[in-house]
Amino acid sequence: MKYSKYSVVIIGSGAAGLYLALSVAKNNRLKDGILVVTKSSLNECNSRLAQGGIVSVMPDINKNDNVTSHVMDTIKAGCGLSDFNVAKFISENSSTVIKDLIDLGVEFDRDENGNLAFTLEAAHSMPRILHAGGDSTGRVIEDKLAECVRKSDSIEVYEGTIAVELLCDNKNTCRGVLVYNPNTDSYEAIYSNAVVLATGGVGQVYEYTTNPAVATADGVALAHLAGAEVSDMEFVQFHPTALKTSSGSKNMPLVSEAVRGEGAKLLNTNKESFMQMYDKREELAPRDVVARAIFHEMERTNSKNVFLDISPIGLERFKKRFPSITSICNECGIDLEEKLIPVAPAAHYFMGGVKVNLNMETSVKNLYAIGEVSRTGLHGANRLASNSLLECVVCAYKLSGILSKRNLDAPKSFDGKVKSILELYDADVLNDIIETGILRRMLKKAMWENAGIIRNKTGLKNALRVLDDIALITRNSRVYASKEGYELRNSLIAAKLIAEAALVREDSIGAHYREDTAEDVPQTTDRYAETLGAEVSRI
Ligand code: FAD
Ligand code: SIN
Repeated sequence: MKYSKYSVVIIGSGAAGLYLALSVAKNNRLKDGILVVTKSSLNECNSRLAQGGIVSVMPDINKNDNVTSHVMDTIKAGCGLSDFNVAKFISENSSTVIKDLIDLGVEFDRDENGNLAFTLEAAHSMPRILHAGGDSTGRVIEDKLAECVRKSDSIEVYEGTIAVELLCDNKNTCRGVLVYNPNTDSYEAIYSNAVVLATGGVGQVYEYTTNPAVATADGVALAHLAGAEVSDMEFVQFHPTALKTSSGSKNMPLVSEAVRGEGAKLLNTNKESFMQMYDKREELAPRDVVARAIFHEMERTNSKNVFLDISPIGLERFKKRFPSITSICNECGIDLEEKLIPVAPAAHYFMGGVKVNLNMETSVKNLYAIGEVSRTGLHGANRLASNSLLECVVCAYKLSGILSKRNLDAPKSFDGKVKSILELYDADVLNDIIETGILRRMLKKAMWENAGIIRNKTGLKNALRVLDDIALITRNSRVYASKEGYELRNSLIAAKLIAEAALVREDSIGAHYREDTAEDVPQTTDRYAETLGAEVSRI
């Protein structure tokens, strides 16, 4: 086995990981260097797919906006479960990081006078979302960050390399990470006293998802195996409008919420509007409400999708404002002249994750988490649109400040506990005789059908039974001989944590909906009203 050492190791190259790498490189002169490990190519990640935009609270130029309003919207969408201090911290720092992104060369869209163009998305009380390339915000940000990282002399990148185990010693302290390169079929033990999980989301734990293939919940599983605390595992966000293609692809492209923000209406398969029956905010209700309404409407009309009617926007304006969605629709053979886009809900974002404090510290020393893999407390039971990219960059910015104050010399040796972990992987274990593809499909189907948009006790127990069967077949193996094997292991761990948490939480709140215990009243209004009453006066 190869050994190496770095001052900081960042696992994941989405917006969170890359922005952290650049911020650390700017602030520090590090003896042992910075390493970014990523399991596919540098820019294959959720970040690159983000369409709608990124929240930016800039009262100096967006006169009606302010931190109080953004914090209130965040807490409301999160159904009162968001952490007030975290929401305030992230909102207050948004303009600093956005200005930094602009300085790095990220070009956000501007109006005809050259001013930043702010748009509206569901559950925001005013336009405060910046976008780039029309509807390619994530691609514009990710490509610029990747370009800067590639140019940096102080950042090394391992592409096509998957982190498979955190190396924690007897004192609950992380001393590095073990990575596997499937191309060379070799392991490398990397010593470091600052290991950062920036591994993104869990969408691929579900049959239908907007997330790319890399989103297999690895970070949550690595943290759990290392004994780090995870939290809010029941809160998975389902986006209401993923594109339903005629091929029935289960990796579904997104049709941004901003399309509804710009005026598109939802119609059922009989071409009737229906959102007014479910929520008075209609198309602009929070996305859990819209996702459930669509799900019910699909069941009621026995159809596989509903439609987004884009005629209120107008075809020409639509094409100009949403060039990426236009070309995705064209590629999928959807005739936009008909102004009806077929859509259905899909797993989209994970509010839960590895529990961190406001210094991005997990419960394991020297182990940090940022971005979607982390659970900061910002999102509560339901994330407000466009708060995620913001959380990625603000938390990366904060962590770079924390790391700049630490001694980041790499450890010089490992203790017996770490050595025993490494011995496991040194042994010649060839256990990929199992068909990982079939098992992953089983897992994803069980989670979609039983731990998805609408849940109940029987279904969740069914899901857990399937997961136990998969664990039995794989003999709960820790060591695999392929990337796909590790992804199966990780998805299995995360899926189990999600289903167990969903079983324990019997009330319905935000994205977690239990039909067997739900009361037939609008959800949680009192809860967030209570939180807001107590907190708002503190801003
Ligand atoms: P990611 O960008 O997903 O990056 C994770 C990285 O970790 C990847 O490079 C991956 O390969 C790597 N990785 C994972 N496991 C391992 C491992 N074991 N070893 C090595 N590398 C690993 N949010 C918004 O705020 N606004 C939007 O408009 C918006 N639109 C979205 C549209 C879509 C289609 C999707 C899917 C999400 C959208 N989101 C949006 C959510 C947002 O994009 C993500 O939450 C955010 O980009 C996550 O960034 P991240 O850096 O945490 O993770
Ligand atoms: C979207 O554009 O609808 C996605 C926005 C988000 O996930 O925040």
